[in-house]
Amino acid sequence: MEEKAIEILEKFNQKHIVDWMNRLNDEEKNKLVEQVVKLNIEQVVDLYNNLSKTFEIGNKKIEKISAIDIDKLSEEEFNNYKNQGINIIKSKKYAVVTMAGGQGTRLGHNGPKGTFKVNLNNGEKYLFQIIVESLQEANRKYGIVIPWYIMTSEENNDQTLDFLKEHGYFGYPQGKVKLFKQGKAPLISTEGKLLIGKDKLIKEASDGNGSIYKSLKDDGILEDMKNNGIQWVFVGGVDNILLKIVDPLLVGVTLNEGNKIASKSVIKTNPREKAGVFCKIDGKPGIIEYSELPEEMIEEVDQDGELVFGDVNILSHLYNIEALEKMSDTVMPYHIAVKKSDYLDENGKLVVPEDKNVYKFESFIFDAFSNYDNISILRVKRENEFAPIKNAQGNDSPETAVELYNARLEK
Ligand code: UD1
Repeated sequence: MEEKAIEILEKFNQKHIVDWMNRLNDEEKNKLVEQVVKLNIEQVVDLYNNLSKTFEIGNKKIEKISAIDIDKLSEEEFNNYKNQGINIIKSKKYAVVTMAGGQGTRLGHNGPKGTFKVNLNNGEKYLFQIIVESLQEANRKYGIVIPWYIMTSEENNDQTLDFLKEHGYFGYPQGKVKLFKQGKAPLISTEGKLLIGKDKLIKEASDGNGSIYKSLKDDGILEDMKNNGIQWVFVGGVDNILLKIVDPLLVGVTLNEGNKIASKSVIKTNPREKAGVFCKIDGKPGIIEYSELPEEMIEEVDQDGELVFGDVNILSHLYNIEALEKMSDTVMPYHIAVKKSDYLDENGKLVVPEDKNVYKFESFIFDAFSNYDNISILRVKRENEFAPIKNAQGNDSPETAVELYNARLEK
């Protein structure tokens, strides 16, 4: 296996790792060799050599996409859609996936984000606990037990599992909870070199929430869902404490529009809010991340003075099982993030860079929406459904989220 590893490293211009390997003891060396053989070095080097292969707006045609405003539904429509959704949920065809593979770096929390605790007017609660409570509320209402899948990452899977066990899954039937791991990819320096971390292995990181589709298939979750008769799957983030995980209305609206995918939006608070926006990309439904939205589109308004790209993604997606199956075979585009990452130099000395020094390639969950011509977008009220915790302070912090949550409690 060592020969194979050396061949790969030399082929992809990573000879410094071979030199490094030769200075390790047998046990360390074997671990590194094993990692090299498993890693998709070819892909990351290829992306590095062809940065233009990563996602780019370029000449793509970006247009407004329409959403269904919850406030504009008639009472009859509202009840009709809701009842259709309730039928699906009651007949045990609905499952929930929580994406919890990201690291709460911006939040400064040491541990999986779901293990972060907030002090709410109805008690101190962990983010995972808040999710369990909404699942349990739905279970009581509809007389079922909704299967709950949690996407973790290599970095935080064990910690997540230990945490859930320690807290007795917050009372959720353990047999209905399954964890699965998302994909990862090596980091590559801005000079095109793989880096060695403190553990004497090549540095890797989660490769974005877009790896969910492939992981659902590879880890047998899709099969598990199908075996359990699941037809509709809700996928949400871990960090929005007002997220409506079980919403029959969303299911009903989607059924009614004859779509296989759906998502929820809220209106942007200001043009520069750091959130992705819904749009059409070359005629297909999509989302453009705040960091990639072209400057001239950020403030663009229509004839009524409303933002053209004003529907914000709140990470509240719904899929028909057919769509998930299709997407699990979709080749996702990669987006580039330039980050700071420490590493060991050729003498084994830790280097802590002052400037950004690595490319991280990430895929985004919503890029797979382009598999379909249409999506149902339900525009909901921010104060009812969106209180994200992203930063330690300021916007989208525990403080702002808790305030929104408490205000909702009083309603
Ligand atoms: C995300 C959305 C953004 C949206 C915002 C709303 C994406 C790519 N971006 O941005 O459009 O407006 O939320 O709050 O969806 N995660 C993983 N694995 C990863 C990376 C992330 O599971 O490798 C999970 C996180 O645990 C979290 C969610 O995906 O639940 C969002 O990740 P984060 O990196 O926080 O995305 P944002 O930049 O906040």
